[in-house]
Amino acid sequence: MRTPLCERLGIEFPIFAFTHCRDVAAAVSAAGGLGVLGAVGFSAEQLEIEMKWIDEHVGDKPYGVDIVIPGKYEGKGSDLDASDLEAKLKELVPPGHREFAKRLLAEHGVPELPTGEHARELLGWTATTAGPQIEAILKHPKVKVVANALGTPPADVIRQIQATGRLVGALCGSVKHAVAHKEAGVDFVIAQGGEGGGHTGDVGSIVLWPQVIDAVSPLPVLAAGGVGDGRQMAAALMMGAQGVWTGSLWLTVEEAEVPPAQQESLLRATSHDTVRSRSWTGKPCRMLRNDWTEAWEQPDNPKPLGMPLQFMVTADAVARTHRYAAKAQSVAFNPVGQIVGVMNEVRPVREVIVQLVEQYLDAVERFERIQPHDA
Ligand SMILES: Cc1cc2nc3c(=O)[nH]c(=O)nc-3n(C[C@H](O)[C@H](O)[C@H](O)COP(=O)(O)O)c2cc1C
Repeated sequence: MRTPLCERLGIEFPIFAFTHCRDVAAAVSAAGGLGVLGAVGFSAEQLEIEMKWIDEHVGDKPYGVDIVIPGKYEGKGSDLDASDLEAKLKELVPPGHREFAKRLLAEHGVPELPTGEHARELLGWTATTAGPQIEAILKHPKVKVVANALGTPPADVIRQIQATGRLVGALCGSVKHAVAHKEAGVDFVIAQGGEGGGHTGDVGSIVLWPQVIDAVSPLPVLAAGGVGDGRQMAAALMMGAQGVWTGSLWLTVEEAEVPPAQQESLLRATSHDTVRSRSWTGKPCRMLRNDWTEAWEQPDNPKPLGMPLQFMVTADAVARTHRYAAKAQSVAFNPVGQIVGVMNEVRPVREVIVQLVEQYLDAVERFERIQPHDA
């Protein structure tokens, strides 16, 4: 199972784990996979603190960081700095959207943030906000991979990262985007099927993976979207992928910094309980369906804005539903994929990795057993 991409990165298993939690990222890399820290929620300064912590806890193992420079967003191409861009974008948010979000939380009894506390409204998902993050990332030698979500990374960003010997990857949900990534010069592509958690397209993994593998060959492809079992890993490698890229699975591990009430919602959910909704970030994102996602679908209510404006409306709600998770289960932001249906217990990272590897080996052995042998 040690694919050429594993060799290049010096990792034992072709298991890539996207996570917002530094403990999970470090634990995955320590267990032989590659932990990838999602940077979107961190300022460059906070990201620096998180990476320093991982450096100290990952031994001599490599890890990755994931940034978000979308192909399309409001304010793209602006040469304003981050705070001026935020001020300009704030003017574009209709007050009625903010009032609607506030009313929804009030109706569900979710308390306000303590006086003086405010949620950050412009996350690291513009070229302007990602720039300082990249500068911080390049100071950490154990970061061997930088991945970009929601679009093809700009050519100068790709060159800047590759010049330091690191690999650049990009996520895609369609063949068209995969080809654009390849043409821009990335080192590998992550093909995420629509059943995956977070921002996602609408083509299922089993259809998307082989199409992307063929379209960008010989560029390595990581298979994402719905992987939670070693049999799926075996299927992905059998199709020609060089590894699996997972996200949802790491929300219910012991090391995850997910509020207990939110973990409870995830442990309880079945594979039928997710929906692709624009209601939190402005782009289609798979999450648990609840009163919040349903409310934004009602014809008489405001329609979600684009990215990054919708999150400027919802940042306060994300912070409040996270802080008061037990009171906010029916209106919280729970990005997760359909694999949530088999995420039924909280386990340490190492146990999850060992199980994936064992299930993979069993699948391969079973496959070999069913091959006809010469008499
Ligand atoms: C809670 C959550 C947040 C995510 N945030 C990001 C992100 O910021 N950047 C990114 O590249 N992918 C993000 N993703 C997508 C993952 O990188 C990954 O492609 C996806 O989870 C794979 O599908 P799976 O959830 O079925 O494993 C997120 C996924 C989840 C579950």
